[in-house]
Amino acid sequence: MKLETGDNVVLVIPDLQIPYEHPDALDFCAAVRDAAGCNRVVCIGDEVDQLALGMFDPDPDADGAGPELKKALNQINAWYQEFPDVQVTTSNHTGRIQKRAFKAGIPEAYLRSVNEWMQAPEGWTWADYVYIDGVRYEHGDNQGGMYAARNLAIRNRTSTVIGHHHSHGGVYYIANDDTMIFGMNVGCLIDASALAFKYARGSAYKPTLGCGVVAYGVPYFVPMLLDKKGRWTREVIL
Ligand SMILES: [Fe+2]
Ligand SMILES: [Fe+2]
Repeated sequence: MKLETGDNVVLVIPDLQIPYEHPDALDFCAAVRDAAGCNRVVCIGDEVDQLALGMFDPDPDADGAGPELKKALNQINAWYQEFPDVQVTTSNHTGRIQKRAFKAGIPEAYLRSVNEWMQAPEGWTWADYVYIDGVRYEHGDNQGGMYAARNLAIRNRTSTVIGHHHSHGGVYYIANDDTMIFGMNVGCLIDASALAFKYARGSAYKPTLGCGVVAYGVPYFVPMLLDKKGRWTREVIL
């Protein structure tokens, strides 16, 4: 077989941008995990948004950094309970505090680790990238465009799963005479009506809500089906 296969069934939690995640994001991810029989969980980054710590002018209608962090910690706690063991890839939104500190001339040695300020359980670990069954998982913010997942797979010379590009969920396969690899973008599970996403309201492409599963080496983008009110229909179609 040209495509490399593996032993694991991996749930890939996409960009949540907590506290601005879709209200049904947690239930949806738990339902996909159960339906697909996942034994590993990767969170592809941007698990928190940190809108107030961005480089743009702060939105006068949004929470400041303190209240926003308090809300985020409160909401991510439910994820810690539901998913006690998660490998998280580092990302641009979670890394905003380091960027701010860098700009202010503060050495990293003074900063608290992400595990610490996120009050994460021991089972949550952070790394720039993760390999499972030969598939590379990374956030994807170092590659632009709607074909970022495809281009990163080619660049990495191995199947690659990313997030970051909220509007381009899906899978691309690339083959030559010997091997086949894939690039998958797992979309996002944000609440697009939140103030944090005001910047994207004029965009032609809206967020593709869903998550990823890599089952024995084969990738699936699982869309979150919505009713007319924008709530999850509670269906999981794999
Ligand atoms: Fe993101
Ligand atoms: Fe990102």
